[in-house]
Amino acid sequence: MCLLIYFNIFSIAFFGSIQAQRSFDDNSIDPDLLLDLDVLLKKHGYPVETHEIKTDDGYLLTIFRLPHGKNGSGVNPRPILMMHGMFGTAYNFVYTEYFNMSKAGYFADHGYDVWLGNARGTTYGRKHVKLHPKNADFWKFSYHDIGLHDLPATVDYILNVTGRNSLFYIGHSQGGTIFYVLASLRPEYQKKFAQVSLTAPAGFMAHYQMTRIKAVSRHHRTLYELALKTNNMEFPPSWLNFPGILSSLCVGTVMESFCQRAFINFNGEDSGELDMKIFPMLIHSLTTTSVMQNLHYAQNINAEKFRQWDHGKEKNLEIYGQAEPPEYPVEKIEVPVRIYYGCNDKMAAEGDQEEMCRVLKNCTTHKMGNPKWNHFDFLFSKNFEKVLFEPMIKHIDTYELS
Ligand SMILES: *[C@@H]1O[C@H](CO)[C@@H](O)[C@H](O)[C@H]1NC(C)=O
Ligand SMILES: *[C@@H]1O[C@H](CO)[C@@H](O)[C@H](O)[C@H]1NC(C)=O
Ligand SMILES: *[C@@H]1O[C@H](CO)[C@@H](O)[C@H](O)[C@H]1NC(C)=O
Ligand SMILES: *[C@@H]1O[C@H](CO)[C@@H](O)[C@H](O)[C@H]1NC(C)=O
Repeated sequence: MCLLIYFNIFSIAFFGSIQAQRSFDDNSIDPDLLLDLDVLLKKHGYPVETHEIKTDDGYLLTIFRLPHGKNGSGVNPRPILMMHGMFGTAYNFVYTEYFNMSKAGYFADHGYDVWLGNARGTTYGRKHVKLHPKNADFWKFSYHDIGLHDLPATVDYILNVTGRNSLFYIGHSQGGTIFYVLASLRPEYQKKFAQVSLTAPAGFMAHYQMTRIKAVSRHHRTLYELALKTNNMEFPPSWLNFPGILSSLCVGTVMESFCQRAFINFNGEDSGELDMKIFPMLIHSLTTTSVMQNLHYAQNINAEKFRQWDHGKEKNLEIYGQAEPPEYPVEKIEVPVRIYYGCNDKMAAEGDQEEMCRVLKNCTTHKMGNPKWNHFDFLFSKNFEKVLFEPMIKHIDTYELS
């Protein structure tokens, strides 16, 4: 989804840095930013557990749990799993200056047993029983695999620990894609989701509007071959230490507001709701992804469809029995889904969200009130409580867990 976010911020930061002078010493960086997620949440009064799960194909994922809110356990907290988007991690759900205003903290304080998942390849998913992330084979996965392996392993683990038969689910962007993948290809999993809330989920791509990413997407085959040939299946490669470079250029320097503008402008217009105080956290928590994850979205943007990986005609015939990759059969999804979208989201665009909701069997949409609400407002808005959390919890509370 965010194929160019790095390039965009990076190029601006890079050219800007030619004149910029570093104007800070390390003491000026908020020390919270150097803490691990669990330590950080504990420091702000939340109970946190760390769990490690193993997927059926050998990836080891660290996930976090806030079993209840700050003031102790309410009555029978209800499990809810939150899954981040591409380039993100569980950290996406704890952004904000006040941790009680983060998605994780707020839901924990409102009677939920909050689980924060992490996909393979992220900061919390760089382990495998055999493969090492330095090995290109570690990175040969797309969101298809996250949906078919990481998500069911996480759901089964949570249901086992909590003794429940079903849970609630929140997915942002790719967090929505992986739900569509799992629920459509393994419909037997649907009964484990009592209700699903997706914010700016990435599915259909006919209305995708990011012109620069669209232009790059046309070259998906060449880019894939290049990655294979050079053995660089991680994006951006970790030897670049991209978050480190960005953070030393953009956090606490004269470049900071410049970098912030680049970030805001990335998705088009400023909604006026982004909380830029958390910009350093955003930079600090960026993670790498697999090249295939990015190129799978690129294939779909190019095809204007939501399909499985395109191996090229010959291999498609061999694998799928047809020349074009099959579309994900999302029409099989009967789970109650509510899609939250913004009208100024150029990646998960309104037309695609409404179309997906027509195809899903039990779906409603919630259009965000601010007409300039964009893809990132779901992660960084200052006004979460009123415009997102309250209506979302009110809706989820109408469902029972089995
Ligand atoms: C927790 O308890 C304190 C003291 O009773 C109260 O001031 C605060 O609002 C409570 N917080 C939550 C999230 O319930
Ligand atoms: C969160 O904490 C801040 C600072 O302590 C407080 O002003 C705010 O009202 C709290 N918000 C909620 C939703 O409890
Ligand atoms: C469920 O938990 C039990 C006890 O902790 C464990 O032995 C079992 O392997 C778990 N099952 C799954 C499917 O995770
Ligand atoms: C959607 O799911 C809810 C909860 O399971 C159910 O009450 C409702 O009848 C379903 N609606 C449709 C159109 O199937």
